[in-house]
Amino acid sequence: MYKTIGIVTGGGDAPGLNAVIRAVVKTAVGEYGMRVIGIEDSFEGLLGAQTRTRELKPEHVRGLLPRGGTILGTRNRGCFVERTADGRVVKPEEIYQEAIGNLHQLGIEGLVVLGGEGSLAIAAEFDRLGFPVIGVPKTIDNDLACTELTFGFVTALDIATEALDRLHTTAESHDRVMILEVMGRHTGWIALHSGIAGGADVILIPEIPFTMESVAAKIKERDRCGSQFTIIVAAEGARETTGEQIYQDKGDEQHAPRLGGVGNYCRMELERLTGKETRCVVLGHLQRGGRPNAFDRMLATSFGACAVRAFAEGKRSVMVALQAADIVTVPISEAIARIKSVPTDGQLISTARATGISFGAPNEDSYHNHGQTEPCI
Ligand code: F6P
Repeated sequence: MYKTIGIVTGGGDAPGLNAVIRAVVKTAVGEYGMRVIGIEDSFEGLLGAQTRTRELKPEHVRGLLPRGGTILGTRNRGCFVERTADGRVVKPEEIYQEAIGNLHQLGIEGLVVLGGEGSLAIAAEFDRLGFPVIGVPKTIDNDLACTELTFGFVTALDIATEALDRLHTTAESHDRVMILEVMGRHTGWIALHSGIAGGADVILIPEIPFTMESVAAKIKERDRCGSQFTIIVAAEGARETTGEQIYQDKGDEQHAPRLGGVGNYCRMELERLTGKETRCVVLGHLQRGGRPNAFDRMLATSFGACAVRAFAEGKRSVMVALQAADIVTVPISEAIARIKSVPTDGQLISTARATGISFGAPNEDSYHNHGQTEPCI
């Protein structure tokens, strides 16, 4: 069994990172007598003559369970992934060898990596080059394959749902259309779940391209039926059938491209098409900051303890995952092979449509009203 393991947090933060760190330290030290070394500022802390690391003992993780962010720091982009001019992703081997050399010098025998698909792909490369890793699935977007949930998602969902509740009362008072733009680069999990939980009238997600006419038709139908307000939740990665995703900036070698703007674009177009006063709220990083909810604390703690147990059982190159209410391990290669998208023929989409929610798809009417003007319910 390993004597010393490392722990690193990568990519955008998510509520529950500190709860995982706490569980890893408590389990490693308390149950298996291992030492834990925290790597600072994501994998970048492993580079250079002066690595940025610190030993984490149980006294260092006291009080961490409810704390947002990560005490280790994190980075979105760094030296471990390079993008060529033609957009290809390359993993420079000399950087990995430098980091692995430093890991050996620090006496670290295995690394627990808390990350989304990007950080777990880096973790997989460490393992390919001979350094054992265990992954822990983190992202508020909930788009990692092989796990039913990632930690952080349910907290983000709570925040988005509360925002929708609050937008309802002001929208209704002013007879307005209110658009809430939420996170979700490739997938619409936050928009879909919060839209159902928060009673949205329209949900726009990357998996179902929309038309402005279809959304406007829903707003007009609601007006006709006596509801003079409409609530729309849009994932930042949603796009029109005829358009592309909307970016705030396209990014460069140092910075990832940043999506954003679809909500405001819809605001202008819907005002033009319906003549109704429309407002847009971008929820942004409020979804990521602050305390994890009870479920995410529990999930993060289970993931952390199981990650250490996996090392103790001699496993490597696996990710802990939630499947059928149990924590299991799956090969990291499977988890990063594809993004977990919202199944457009799945139960949640049908439930949303059955309860009158529109996805703004071109033929949306046929789902609910069978193409007819139906009596208002
Ligand atoms: O991966 C989670 C996520 O929240 C995305 O939905 C979002 O596009 C991205 O991170 C934004 O991250 P940052 O502001 O750190 O670049």
